[in-house]
Amino acid sequence: MYTTNQSECLIEGVSVRELQATYGTPLYIMSEPELERRLGIVQNAFLDKYPNTYALYASKALSIAAVYEKVMAAGLSVDVVSRGEMYVALHAGVPAERIHVHGSNKTILDITYALEQGITHFTIDNMREISLLSGLAAEYNREVDVLLRIVPQVVGGAHAAIQTGGVDTKFGFPTHDDTYLDAIRTTLEAEHLQLKGIHCHVGSQIQDPTLFINTVKTMVRFMDTIRQETGYTTDVLNIGGGFGVAYLDEDEYLDFAQTMEQVMETLVEEVEARELPLPKIGIEPGRWLVANAGATLYEVGTVKEVSGVRTFVSVDGGMTDNIRPALYDAEYEVVAATRMNEEKTLEAKIVGACCESGDIISNRSLIPPVTPGDLLLVKATGAYNFSMASNYNQMLRPAVVFVKDGAHRLVVRRQTFEDLVACEVIGQST
Ligand code: LLP
Repeated sequence: MYTTNQSECLIEGVSVRELQATYGTPLYIMSEPELERRLGIVQNAFLDKYPNTYALYASKALSIAAVYEKVMAAGLSVDVVSRGEMYVALHAGVPAERIHVHGSNKTILDITYALEQGITHFTIDNMREISLLSGLAAEYNREVDVLLRIVPQVVGGAHAAIQTGGVDTKFGFPTHDDTYLDAIRTTLEAEHLQLKGIHCHVGSQIQDPTLFINTVKTMVRFMDTIRQETGYTTDVLNIGGGFGVAYLDEDEYLDFAQTMEQVMETLVEEVEARELPLPKIGIEPGRWLVANAGATLYEVGTVKEVSGVRTFVSVDGGMTDNIRPALYDAEYEVVAATRMNEEKTLEAKIVGACCESGDIISNRSLIPPVTPGDLLLVKATGAYNFSMASNYNQMLRPAVVFVKDGAHRLVVRRQTFEDLVACEVIGQST
């Protein structure tokens, strides 16, 4: 995906200077081939390899039409957690039957909107949602398929903020007491709800395949208890997302195909041992599909050497387009994209343009000495960057471009100043 032409970095054969000249900076760049390659792996190493499986793309990682288009073509469906994500997915042409509604606090408006749009797949998080969904489905005269999200009691994820599987969580039905069994019984009795199975999500940015294997083991154990206690046999088991990626060049990363092989082997062993039928198995990767396909291009502004302390290299974006270092101490690989053939002799803190010290892209990067006007490329920013971007300091949300075979195309335009004031209501007296 990345190549070099003398001093300049090319992404899928497109020079960063050309991208800067065409679209400006900061700029999100997505490699179409890398996105397609990863979707292809999910397709070949999971969907096509194992019968009775399904995969949802977790929209929250990057919900834009250009990505949904690729996701649809690869045979995945999508998960959404808000009316906004439903709207954007439907607007992008995702058929209602391929949209699955998740979330821990679905409102009446959320459920109503979904039902009106013909969406019939829901993952229920709590008791309130069982009665809300049943009542509204009756009102709209719809039969809906539901999974119950339960707590797997397996903890994983790269940061406390993205761990969800332990007992102390807002997500799902508790499993350390009988709450999940009550939920199964209540759902079985609820009108207009077809109980299809159970769901869980351990956490995000998981690098250790053992965690997925342990998840399958505990979930099959719950399937067994559910059958014994309620008589219900689970048809569908969704083990969530969380497949980790490499952010730094030296990072180890999860081998998706191998992990799924181990997961499927474990599943077969565990259900056979308990004489349960093999359930349909679902996954919902977000980050793994899009993170490494993306990069962010910035222009260097101030380079400030604070004597005896360090050198700060300021770029024209920052926490508004990448909040992850500030939120999760996330680390990124920074490349001096206009000085590719120079020696890396500058150890610098790469910082953004916002008015706070927490506005950091990288605490410590080794790059060639850069000067104002150089370009920096930050790798692996395709997931949870655009989707978590903000207008703090009234910074404009950057554009997104797709690159492939030496060509580029705009898929999301940069915000304008007009966008910044579009929602303001001016001139009304109270
Ligand atoms: N399924 C469920 C139920 C989830 O809660 C999530 C992520 C996923 C799937 C997708 O997880 P992935 O495969 O992308 O790891 N903003 C954070 C990540 C939050 C993830 C929340 N849930 C970050 O930037 O690291």
